Amino acid sequence: MNPDREKQQAFKGSILFFTADPDRSDSQEAYTYYEEGLLLVREGLVEAAGPFAELAETLPPETDITDYSGRLIIPGFVDTHIHYPQTDIIASYGKQLLEWLEKYAFPREGMFADAGYAADVTDFFLQELFRNGTTTAQVMCTVHPQSAEILFEKALEKNLRLIAGKTLMNCNAPDYLLDDNTKGFHASLALIERWHGQGRLSYAVTPRFAITSTESQLEKAADLLNSRGGLYLHTHLSENHAEIDMIQTLFPWSRDYLDVYERFELVGPRTTFAHAIHLSPAEIERIAVSGAAVSFCPASNLFIGSGLFNLENMTAAGIPVGIGTDVGGGASFSILKTMAEAYKVLQLQGQSLSALKAFYLATLGGATALGLADRIGSFLPGREADFTVLNFDATPLMERRIAVSETLEERLFVLMMLGDDRSISHTHIMGTPV
Ligand code: GUN
Ligand code: ZN
Repeated sequence: MNPDREKQQAFKGSILFFTADPDRSDSQEAYTYYEEGLLLVREGLVEAAGPFAELAETLPPETDITDYSGRLIIPGFVDTHIHYPQTDIIASYGKQLLEWLEKYAFPREGMFADAGYAADVTDFFLQELFRNGTTTAQVMCTVHPQSAEILFEKALEKNLRLIAGKTLMNCNAPDYLLDDNTKGFHASLALIERWHGQGRLSYAVTPRFAITSTESQLEKAADLLNSRGGLYLHTHLSENHAEIDMIQTLFPWSRDYLDVYERFELVGPRTTFAHAIHLSPAEIERIAVSGAAVSFCPASNLFIGSGLFNLENMTAAGIPVGIGTDVGGGASFSILKTMAEAYKVLQLQGQSLSALKAFYLATLGGATALGLADRIGSFLPGREADFTVLNFDATPLMERRIAVSETLEERLFVLMMLGDDRSISHTHIMGTPV
C-alpha cells in the first residue's frame, strides 16, 4: 500500500468539475469552479473540493499542501475507446477502414502472439495514457488471451481504472487472428474469472465488430455477457459505408447494422458502440431506448475518412456519449487534441461544440457512458481521486493566447484547441502522482 493513500492529501489550484451535461441543464449549474481551490483526498478518495480560503482553515497545521497554483485541476480524462495493440501503427498512411485493418491493424495485432512484445507495448501504452492525463480507459486487446492478461496485470499494478477484454474474432480476418469459437469462449471466461472486479478492473466482452464474428460466436458473446454481473460489451458500430454494406451481405436478414447486435442480445446499458456515425433515426431511437452508450472518436473518423458523428442527434435522443481516441485509427493519445478534432467535426455540421461540453464529455460524460459516474468523473465527496493538472501556458503561443483570454470558457477553449500532452502537468491516480 502506497503510504500516500492512507493520509490526507491536499492540492491547491484552480478546480473544475461537472455534475451534469451542460447541454441538458443550465450550464452554470452543470459545473463547479473554484479559481483558487483546494482538493482534499483521503485514502485515494475525494474528501472535499472547495474554495482554498475556506477549506485550508480546516486543515491540521502540519498538512502538506501540493501547490498547483495557476494550473487547472480536473477529473482525469476518460478514453471510452482505444486499441492498445495498435500503438505502434498509429499514423499509418492512406487507407479507409477495411483496407486499413488489413494492411496495418491485423498484421500488427498478430504480433501479440509474442508475450514479450505485448508486455513492452503495454508498458509504453500505460505511460502514454498518464502522460496525456487519461486515468480511465476502455481498451480493446487482440484475440490472444495473453494480450488482455498482460494489460490487466500491469494496470492492476498501477491501480488504473480499466475496462478491457480480448477480442472475439472467428471469421473474415487472417487465420492468425481467428479464434476457435469454443476456445475463445473458455479463454474469455477464464479472463473474466481472474480479472473482472479485481482492484479497479472490469471485463468487457469484445466481439471486434459483427463482420469478424459468426452468428454462433455472437451467441457465445451473449452467454459471456450474462455469465457474471457488471460485465461490459464493447464493439464497433456503423463507422464506414463499406463496412455497413458488408454487414448487409453477411447478415441478409438484418434490418440494419444495430439489428445484428440486437438479435444476439448484446445491446443494453453496459454496451459501448464505438463510432456510431452512419445511423438511421430508427437506430438512434433504439440505442436510446436500450440505454447503450456511444464513443465519439472524431480524430479517428477524420483520419480514416469515415464520416461525421452527429452529437446533436445523440444528445437530443438522450444517448450517453464519451470521447474515444481510437488509437491507432486516431492518430493521438491526447484527449485535448481529440476535443479539437471533435470541434471541427461538429463545425462541419453547423454544431459548435462548447468548451464546457467538450470537457464534460471527456470527464463526467465518459464516466456516465461507462456507468461509472458514481466512482469517477467528478470531485464529489467519495469519488476516486483520479485527476489531471493542466498547464494553461505549455507553449509560447498558448501563453500569448491565454494572456488575452477573459473567461474560464475562453481559457478552456484555448486548452482544447491548442493543447496536447505538453499541457498535462501532472496525472494522479487515487491521489498518487504517476
Ligand atoms: N472496426 C473493427 N475493428 C476496428 C479497428 O481496429 N479500428 C477501427 N477504427 N474500427 C474498427
Ligand atoms: Zn476502434
